[in-house]
Amino acid sequence: MYRLIYKSRSPSPLDWDTVVSILHDSKENNEKNQIGGFLMATRHHFLQVVEGKFEDVNTTFMRIVRDPRHTDIVMLSYEVIDSCLFENWGMKGIGVFGNNDELSQRLIAKFGEEDGGVRFPRESWMALALILDVREVAELPEWKR
Ligand SMILES: Cc1cc2nc3c(=O)[nH]c(=O)nc-3n(C[C@H](O)[C@H](O)[C@H](O)COP(=O)(O)O)c2cc1C
Repeated sequence: MYRLIYKSRSPSPLDWDTVVSILHDSKENNEKNQIGGFLMATRHHFLQVVEGKFEDVNTTFMRIVRDPRHTDIVMLSYEVIDSCLFENWGMKGIGVFGNNDELSQRLIAKFGEEDGGVRFPRESWMALALILDVREVAELPEWKR
């Protein structure tokens, strides 16, 4: 199995509705391809993990990079893994928009700030640390599975 992590920028400010429509577009594909996807969004940036078989991660990422809903896509890591962090997830996501909510504040204190939200790190190990923190604390509604 493989894990790919990338970050990108949204051309216009993000809100939860936009994130939900991306999750909606992705869910069916990811389930069909046995891809585990986890998307984090701040007001201006995305950070995503895509896990699955090599071919499936490749074809999914090829679709993702062509999507005009984001730009400045930077691949942070693409590696062989023994076990998935997001197995059978299909697609889930979380928005950390406000700098007044508790999770945003905590992440900003730990990982720094960019454009008013948590800074998504370029270092792959730090991005993974952030993802694990969120995975542990976030209440992700069932329907986003
Ligand atoms: C930030 C972001 C993350 C996305 N993640 C996925 C994903 O994990 N899986 C997926 O199939 N599509 C994902 N998409 C949507 C794809 O870009 C594309 O719209 C979708 O796969 C439908 O493609 P199709 O019309 O060629 O079937 C994502 C889009 C954005 C902007």
